[in-house]
Amino acid sequence: MGYVARATACRDKQTFGGFTIAWRGIKTRKTIHFGNPMNTAHDMSNSDPHALVRWWLYTIALFVAVMVLVGGATRLTDSGLSITEWAPVAGIIPPLTPADWSVEFDKYRTTTEYQTINKGMSLEAFKVIFWWEWGHRFLGRIIGLIAVVPLIVFWVAGKLPSWIKLPLVGMVIFGGFQGFIGWWMVKSGLTERVDVSQLRLAIHLTMACIIFVATIWLARSLAVHTEDGRPHLAWQSAAVLVLLLLQIFIGGLVAGLDAGMAYNTWPMMEGAWVPQGLFAMDPILLNFTDNAKMVQFMHRVSAYVLWAAAFAHMISVMRNAGGTTHSRRAIAVFVLISAQALIGISTLILQVPMSWALAHQFGGVVLLAAVTAHWRALRPKQVLSSTKGFGRLNPTYG
Ligand code: HEM
Repeated sequence: MGYVARATACRDKQTFGGFTIAWRGIKTRKTIHFGNPMNTAHDMSNSDPHALVRWWLYTIALFVAVMVLVGGATRLTDSGLSITEWAPVAGIIPPLTPADWSVEFDKYRTTTEYQTINKGMSLEAFKVIFWWEWGHRFLGRIIGLIAVVPLIVFWVAGKLPSWIKLPLVGMVIFGGFQGFIGWWMVKSGLTERVDVSQLRLAIHLTMACIIFVATIWLARSLAVHTEDGRPHLAWQSAAVLVLLLLQIFIGGLVAGLDAGMAYNTWPMMEGAWVPQGLFAMDPILLNFTDNAKMVQFMHRVSAYVLWAAAFAHMISVMRNAGGTTHSRRAIAVFVLISAQALIGISTLILQVPMSWALAHQFGGVVLLAAVTAHWRALRPKQVLSSTKGFGRLNPTYG
């Protein structure tokens, strides 16, 4: 009995201890053979009790990141309007015979994009744009599958702490809704326009990013952290995350309007810091979504604001928590934001080559992961053993 009590105490210490303690647990695996009762095999398996669920969430996040990349390639290759219907289940089977292809091609020929831009396109060229769009949708279905099936399995097997169940169900519903938003976006380009609405594109991109953030947040909540949180600094990283999401939303508008193809100079635009014609459209609000000059200008200004906020946050964390993992993460976030800005500037100056545009888009996703993990670490730790309540946090943070 005395032994069990001691083993439990050790386990708790390891659970809340963090990465290094978990590593120490693995390192001391050998010491089991030397008869240390504190390091039983049972104890080892509990040093990271939610590793499986956590890695499942990382896998979903990775697929969402790839999905964003394939979505970007679909847009950059002008493939997004090649499938004119939304068939969540039947659409999984692509055209298999020449007759199927001809039906699919006929449907595409009715779109304004084909009539005005791609008239005379060959079947072979159509197949290329078709496969991009089909691949993007197929990946969406795969993500649905790898989210829902393990969720049910973990749930039934009792592997999920209670606090995480509601957010996970919410995430699955939100993910399904994202598929619908994708179709809502495609629909906007099928009739009068030759491309999709930039506003719907930006909403679709930002929603994907919110799903990504939620997945990383939950995964990191299940991790064993070495450092205690610093809640008084956490709001700053939350602010950086909000600015980042806003920047990504505006980036979606830039991409949707092909605004990166115009005004390819930096740091000035048309030889001025503030170019003429920012409010050329009427009504005035239209400029913020439809005026390429204004949208590109907003993307530049919000990048500077984001960069300055990340810099100020880094200094604040270095002062208040110098030498900790938090301070190293704050530095990493700042370096990544600076690199992302440089990639954005290169994308602009080089007039949006596909490789740079994709690197810039993927950089946004990498940044999201870094900022979310940093924010989660600054917040109080989740009580991992908690079976009750939503998001119960460890009140013993330093
Ligand atoms: C530092 C933070 C930045 C972030 C997080 C960011 C993020 C993004 C995102 C997510 C997109 C949409 C990509 C797509 O849907 O394909 C985008 C587009 C774009 N951004 Fe940024 N951006 C940043 C800074 C900049 C800067 C400083 C510039 C240049 C001055 C810039 C230039 C562009 C251009 C030209 C596009 C359009 C690319 C295309 O058409 O594919 N970005 N940005």
